[in-house]
Amino acid sequence: MCGIVGYIGTQDVTSILMSGLKRLEYRGYDSAGVAVIEKNELSVIKTVGKLTNLGNKLKERTPHGHIGIGHTRWATHGRPSDVNSHPHQGISKEFAVVHNGIIENYLELKEWLVKEKGHKFHSETDTEVIAHLVEEFYEGDLIEAVRKTLAKVCGSYAIGVIALKEPDKLVAARKDSPLIVGLGKDENFIASDIPAILNYTRDVYLIEDGEVVEVTRNRVKILDADNNLVKRDIFRVEWDAEAAEKGGYEHFMLKEICEQPEAFKKTLSGRIIDGKVKLNELNFTKEQVEKWKKVFVVACGTAYHSGLIGKPLIEDFLKIPVEVDIASEFRYREPLLNEDTLAVFISQSGETADTLAALREARAKGATTLAITNVVGSTISREADYTIYLWAGPEIAVASTKAYTTMLIAQYLLSIYLAQVKGTMPEEKEAKILKALQELPCKAEEILEQKEKYLRLAENMKEAEHVFFIGRGYDYNIAQEGSLKLKEISYIHAEAYAAGELKHGTLALVTEETPVIAIALQEKTYEKTLSNVKEVTARDAYVIGLANEGDQEILKTVNEAIYIPKIENIVSPILAVIPLQLLSYYAACVRGCNVDQPRNLAKSVTVE
Ligand code: AGP
Repeated sequence: MCGIVGYIGTQDVTSILMSGLKRLEYRGYDSAGVAVIEKNELSVIKTVGKLTNLGNKLKERTPHGHIGIGHTRWATHGRPSDVNSHPHQGISKEFAVVHNGIIENYLELKEWLVKEKGHKFHSETDTEVIAHLVEEFYEGDLIEAVRKTLAKVCGSYAIGVIALKEPDKLVAARKDSPLIVGLGKDENFIASDIPAILNYTRDVYLIEDGEVVEVTRNRVKILDADNNLVKRDIFRVEWDAEAAEKGGYEHFMLKEICEQPEAFKKTLSGRIIDGKVKLNELNFTKEQVEKWKKVFVVACGTAYHSGLIGKPLIEDFLKIPVEVDIASEFRYREPLLNEDTLAVFISQSGETADTLAALREARAKGATTLAITNVVGSTISREADYTIYLWAGPEIAVASTKAYTTMLIAQYLLSIYLAQVKGTMPEEKEAKILKALQELPCKAEEILEQKEKYLRLAENMKEAEHVFFIGRGYDYNIAQEGSLKLKEISYIHAEAYAAGELKHGTLALVTEETPVIAIALQEKTYEKTLSNVKEVTARDAYVIGLANEGDQEILKTVNEAIYIPKIENIVSPILAVIPLQLLSYYAACVRGCNVDQPRNLAKSVTVE
């Protein structure tokens, strides 16, 4: 999604803006720009393409000043182009605005400004309306002009605004899109996300929806929706900028795949005590848990896939029905939620617009809401009744890996915790699962030690047009995540199918040109899965089986097998996805794709 950054202080602003935007590249973008106030001129330099394009333009003419805003744009309204890039200005060129989000009523506002106020627009964007409104409402008080503007717009925004007539302040505001303020010595920052300012400060204010912020060199004023001053605690960022760097790996994605053993330890840390699950973030009583008659698990993309694994766990341990929903569907199908419902929302970024909207819908209907997220202080963590953090460390690659596996661990812990409170968790089963969870880091390490062998598999798959992933039960859920990984970064068309479903139509697409990944880890469906594999090999497709270490039986049916270390069967999904992550990573590499920032995709989809 779009990234915004702003600075006011004593340093030269342009280099700070560029370094901040560089740290926001992972959010995915197609154009970039900066606006700087230098002496009595407001300069805007912006361009379509990557930051290198902007850097080249800045070499031609570098504005020098001590206040400015910057932006990386992920196009929503208006194709990627120079003129559609941010910052945007009004008629007078005395204001500049950067924006992350969508102004849903921009067309009617634009019509009013043009017809009633004589404004002239240059871009196709929704954002440009903000610049013209601020200009229209400005009567000598920038904060007031921004407030009046925000009172007119509908939609989502995190904005930064500067004005030539008030060169000693930045004004920022947010609704539904993330915004933070970085606190320095004789300098302050605004940004969409912490990595943008981590080189300069670890102290930040997390801005809430509806708040407007006035930022000068030595003061930050946070105002609530009623213009009252807000007292906000300083949030101290503990993780290092390096943690957000590649740490010697060629890509963030490989780094994050290889960080999984460490991430598992962090997710589990302090949460299994004396053979019991302990979640300090939750304090449910037995009555509360017994009151829930249904659980919803709602998310998007990979997070949604993790919820598919959570479903049978919660149903098995709590003995109540669980419905897993894609967030963008959930909110429009009038879901039946009430006080007897627990609604779990899963989001790595904690900023996904569809998931946040679904959360708000669930809250409005009286459900108890619980967020599972990786980003401390993210919007979802501040709006849900309860939050379980993944503690997986920053996940920068667009393709989610360690967040997915730690989302699974979090759901194993949550389902056991709830069953513990309710008194429905069989002791022996609990002990087996908790022991297996604690074995995960070492077992994952074993897979990663042989990561290069997936390069060969990827080489063999390089020219494939279509790849199918098949499995049953948990194996099918892992197949769904494996297929998303492959297609989103290698651009090979991949689909996951319940192994028993292939013969009901899709088998027609299977030929000798179609590699098939058959996941056969679950003991209770193993034989059935192998018979489905035979349907596929009968069509001469090349089948790679994913099996438990020591399984020789599978070799009688598949063309070759890849293995995960033996572990308690119910916990095997957490390991099973790692070979598929590696296969996808290497497939993207051998196909020369942009692994960390695949085309058309963004790390956090903060628009609907
Ligand atoms: C997964 O690899 C993708 N990056 C995408 O599907 C992602 O999982 C989805 O957009 C949800 O993001 P979130 O977890 O931050 O809400």
